[in-house]
Amino acid sequence: MPMDDVPPISDLETILDSGKIAARIRGLGEEISRDYRGRTPHLIGVLKGAWIFMADLIRAFSIDTTVDFLGIETYGSGTAPSGEVKITRDLDMTIAGRDVLIVEDILDTGRTYQYLRGVLSAHKPKSLKLVTLLNKASRRAVPVEADYVGFEVPDVFVVGYGLDYRQRFRQLPDVRRLRGGDFGETLPAPPR
Ligand code: IMP
Ligand code: MG
Repeated sequence: MPMDDVPPISDLETILDSGKIAARIRGLGEEISRDYRGRTPHLIGVLKGAWIFMADLIRAFSIDTTVDFLGIETYGSGTAPSGEVKITRDLDMTIAGRDVLIVEDILDTGRTYQYLRGVLSAHKPKSLKLVTLLNKASRRAVPVEADYVGFEVPDVFVVGYGLDYRQRFRQLPDVRRLRGGDFGETLPAPPR
Protein backbone atom coordinates (compact mmCIF):
# COMPACT_ATOMS: atom_id res chain seq x y z
CA MET A 1 0.00 0.00 0.00
CA PRO A 2 1.38 3.45 -0.86
CA MET A 3 2.37 5.86 1.89
CA ASP A 4 -0.66 7.30 3.74
CA ASP A 5 -2.96 5.28 1.43
CA VAL A 6 -2.35 7.92 -1.23
CA PRO A 7 -1.29 6.71 -4.70
CA PRO A 8 1.94 8.00 -6.28
CA ILE A 9 1.58 10.89 -8.74
CA SER A 10 2.56 8.53 -11.56
CA ASP A 11 -0.67 6.55 -10.98
CA LEU A 12 -2.91 9.54 -11.73
CA GLU A 13 -4.53 9.88 -15.14
CA THR A 14 -4.75 13.39 -16.65
CA ILE A 15 -8.28 14.29 -17.78
CA LEU A 16 -7.77 18.06 -18.34
CA ASP A 17 -4.30 19.30 -19.26
CA SER A 18 -2.97 22.71 -18.27
CA GLY A 19 -3.30 24.17 -21.78
CA LYS A 20 -6.96 23.24 -21.99
CA ILE A 21 -7.61 24.70 -18.52
CA ALA A 22 -5.83 27.97 -19.42
CA ALA A 23 -7.84 28.33 -22.64
CA ARG A 24 -11.15 27.74 -20.87
CA ILE A 25 -10.27 30.21 -18.10
CA ARG A 26 -9.50 32.90 -20.71
CA GLY A 27 -13.00 32.29 -22.10
CA LEU A 28 -14.62 32.46 -18.65
CA GLY A 29 -12.70 35.67 -17.88
CA GLU A 30 -14.02 37.31 -21.04
CA GLU A 31 -17.60 36.14 -20.42
CA ILE A 32 -17.65 37.32 -16.80
CA SER A 33 -16.00 40.66 -17.72
CA ARG A 34 -18.72 41.20 -20.33
CA ASP A 35 -21.55 40.31 -17.93
CA TYR A 36 -20.22 42.58 -15.16
CA ARG A 37 -19.12 45.47 -17.39
CA GLY A 38 -19.30 48.80 -15.52
CA ARG A 39 -19.39 46.99 -12.16
CA THR A 40 -16.75 45.78 -9.71
CA PRO A 41 -17.70 42.26 -8.63
CA HIS A 42 -16.60 40.98 -5.24
CA LEU A 43 -15.07 37.52 -5.63
CA ILE A 44 -15.19 35.12 -2.70
CA GLY A 45 -12.88 32.12 -3.05
CA VAL A 46 -13.79 28.99 -1.12
CA LEU A 47 -10.62 27.65 0.52
CA LYS A 48 -8.65 25.74 -0.02
CA GLY A 49 -9.62 24.16 -3.34
CA ALA A 50 -10.51 27.32 -5.29
CA TRP A 51 -7.34 29.29 -4.66
CA ILE A 52 -5.39 28.35 -7.79
CA PHE A 53 -8.43 28.68 -10.08
CA MET A 54 -9.29 32.09 -8.61
CA ALA A 55 -5.73 33.35 -9.08
CA ASP A 56 -5.83 32.47 -12.78
CA LEU A 57 -9.45 33.57 -13.31
CA ILE A 58 -9.06 37.15 -12.04
CA ARG A 59 -6.00 37.61 -14.26
CA ALA A 60 -8.24 36.80 -17.24
CA PHE A 61 -10.60 39.71 -16.32
CA SER A 62 -10.65 43.05 -18.09
CA ILE A 63 -12.74 44.55 -15.23
CA ASP A 64 -11.67 45.51 -11.72
CA THR A 65 -12.56 43.24 -8.78
CA THR A 66 -12.20 42.94 -5.04
CA VAL A 67 -11.40 39.59 -3.43
CA ASP A 68 -12.02 37.81 -0.17
CA PHE A 69 -11.84 34.21 1.04
CA LEU A 70 -14.03 31.88 3.03
CA GLY A 71 -12.73 28.73 4.74
CA ILE A 72 -15.15 25.80 4.66
CA GLU A 73 -15.12 22.32 6.11
CA THR A 74 -17.65 19.76 4.91
CA TYR A 75 -18.31 16.89 7.27
CA GLY A 76 -18.57 13.31 6.09
CA SER A 77 -16.42 11.42 3.63
CA GLY A 78 -15.15 12.78 0.34
CA THR A 79 -17.62 10.81 -1.72
CA ALA A 80 -20.57 11.00 0.63
CA PRO A 81 -20.56 14.42 2.31
CA SER A 82 -23.13 14.67 5.08
CA GLY A 83 -24.03 18.18 3.97
CA GLU A 84 -23.07 19.69 7.31
CA VAL A 85 -20.85 22.66 6.61
CA LYS A 86 -18.68 24.63 9.03
CA ILE A 87 -17.06 28.01 8.34
CA THR A 88 -13.42 27.79 9.44
CA ARG A 89 -12.34 31.21 8.15
CA ASP A 90 -14.80 34.10 7.95
CA LEU A 91 -14.92 36.97 5.45
CA ASP A 92 -12.89 40.15 6.05
CA MET A 93 -15.14 42.50 4.08
CA THR A 94 -18.86 43.28 4.16
CA ILE A 95 -20.85 42.04 1.15
CA ALA A 96 -23.97 44.21 1.61
CA GLY A 97 -24.87 45.85 -1.71
CA ARG A 98 -22.03 44.08 -3.58
CA ASP A 99 -22.16 41.94 -6.73
CA VAL A 100 -20.83 38.77 -5.12
CA LEU A 101 -19.33 35.98 -7.22
CA ILE A 102 -18.47 32.84 -5.29
CA VAL A 103 -15.51 30.93 -6.75
CA GLU A 104 -15.51 27.14 -6.23
CA ASP A 105 -13.23 24.35 -7.40
CA ILE A 106 -16.03 21.84 -7.96
CA LEU A 107 -19.81 21.63 -7.63
CA ASP A 108 -20.58 18.07 -6.57
CA THR A 109 -23.69 17.31 -4.49
CA GLY A 110 -24.32 21.07 -4.31
CA ARG A 111 -24.74 21.04 -0.53
CA THR A 112 -21.79 23.35 0.16
CA TYR A 113 -23.10 25.96 -2.28
CA GLN A 114 -26.67 25.62 -1.01
CA TYR A 115 -25.42 26.32 2.50
CA LEU A 116 -23.17 29.23 1.43
CA ARG A 117 -25.89 30.83 -0.63
CA GLY A 118 -28.19 30.84 2.39
CA VAL A 119 -25.59 32.30 4.72
CA LEU A 120 -24.36 34.97 2.27
CA SER A 121 -27.85 36.00 1.08
CA ALA A 122 -28.68 36.96 4.66
CA HIS A 123 -26.05 39.71 4.39
CA LYS A 124 -27.95 41.37 1.49
CA PRO A 125 -25.56 41.37 -1.47
CA LYS A 126 -26.85 43.16 -4.57
CA SER A 127 -26.39 39.93 -6.54
CA LEU A 128 -24.98 36.48 -5.81
CA LYS A 129 -23.61 34.11 -8.42
CA LEU A 130 -21.33 31.08 -8.58
CA VAL A 131 -18.44 30.25 -10.88
CA THR A 132 -17.03 26.73 -10.58
CA LEU A 133 -14.09 25.26 -12.44
CA LEU A 134 -15.63 21.78 -12.48
CA ASN A 135 -19.22 20.52 -12.41
CA LYS A 136 -20.23 16.95 -11.54
CA ALA A 137 -23.86 17.34 -12.59
CA SER A 138 -24.60 13.63 -12.15
CA ARG A 139 -23.87 13.87 -8.40
CA ARG A 140 -26.27 16.68 -7.55
CA ALA A 141 -28.34 16.00 -4.42
CA VAL A 142 -29.93 19.45 -4.02
CA PRO A 143 -31.40 21.74 -6.71
CA VAL A 144 -28.59 24.28 -7.21
CA GLU A 145 -26.63 25.14 -10.35
CA ALA A 146 -23.59 27.25 -11.13
CA ASP A 147 -23.88 30.42 -13.23
CA TYR A 148 -20.51 29.77 -14.89
CA VAL A 149 -18.91 26.33 -15.39
CA GLY A 150 -15.39 25.64 -16.62
CA PHE A 151 -15.80 21.94 -17.43
CA GLU A 152 -18.32 19.16 -16.90
CA VAL A 153 -16.65 16.12 -15.35
CA PRO A 154 -17.93 12.55 -14.92
CA ASP A 155 -18.49 10.92 -11.53
CA VAL A 156 -14.83 10.22 -10.79
CA PHE A 157 -12.70 11.63 -7.99
CA VAL A 158 -10.42 14.32 -9.41
CA VAL A 159 -7.35 16.05 -8.00
CA GLY A 160 -4.87 18.73 -9.04
CA TYR A 161 -5.11 22.43 -9.92
CA GLY A 162 -6.10 23.13 -6.30
CA LEU A 163 -8.21 20.02 -5.67
CA ASP A 164 -6.92 17.51 -3.14
CA TYR A 165 -7.23 13.96 -1.96
CA ARG A 166 -6.27 13.86 1.73
CA GLN A 167 -4.68 17.29 1.28
CA ARG A 168 -2.36 16.00 -1.44
CA PHE A 169 -1.98 16.77 -5.17
CA ARG A 170 -3.15 20.42 -5.06
CA GLN A 171 0.08 21.49 -6.78
CA LEU A 172 -0.53 19.56 -10.02
CA PRO A 173 -0.93 21.95 -13.00
CA ASP A 174 -3.61 19.74 -14.58
CA VAL A 175 -6.73 17.90 -13.39
CA ARG A 176 -6.22 14.18 -12.91
CA ARG A 177 -8.35 11.28 -11.73
CA LEU A 178 -7.55 8.73 -9.10
CA ARG A 179 -7.79 5.32 -10.70
CA GLY A 180 -7.32 1.65 -10.13
CA GLY A 181 -8.17 -0.56 -7.17
CA ASP A 182 -9.37 1.48 -4.24
CA PHE A 183 -9.18 4.77 -6.12
CA GLY A 184 -11.96 4.57 -8.68
CA GLU A 185 -15.52 5.76 -8.18
CA THR A 186 -15.62 4.37 -4.66
CA LEU A 187 -13.07 5.77 -2.27
CA PRO A 188 -12.08 5.10 1.30
CA ALA A 189 -13.27 7.95 3.51
CA PRO A 190 -10.54 10.59 3.96
CA PRO A 191 -9.65 11.24 7.61
CA ARG A 192 -11.32 14.31 9.11
P1 IMP B 1 -20.49 19.54 -2.63
O1 IMP B 1 -20.77 18.06 -2.63
O2 IMP B 1 -21.03 20.22 -3.86
O3 IMP B 1 -20.97 20.18 -1.37
O4 IMP B 1 -18.91 19.71 -2.68
C1 IMP B 1 -18.19 19.63 -1.50
C2 IMP B 1 -16.72 19.71 -1.69
O5 IMP B 1 -16.27 18.38 -1.90
C3 IMP B 1 -16.15 20.47 -2.87
O6 IMP B 1 -16.04 21.86 -2.68
C4 IMP B 1 -14.78 19.84 -2.96
O7 IMP B 1 -13.90 20.46 -2.04
C5 IMP B 1 -15.05 18.41 -2.55
N1 IMP B 1 -15.08 17.52 -3.72
C6 IMP B 1 -16.14 17.01 -4.36
N2 IMP B 1 -15.78 16.20 -5.37
C7 IMP B 1 -14.41 16.23 -5.39
C8 IMP B 1 -13.41 15.62 -6.22
O8 IMP B 1 -13.68 14.86 -7.19
N3 IMP B 1 -12.12 15.89 -5.89
C9 IMP B 1 -11.76 16.71 -4.86
N4 IMP B 1 -12.65 17.30 -4.06
C10 IMP B 1 -13.98 17.07 -4.33
MG1 MG C 1 -14.02 22.75 -1.71
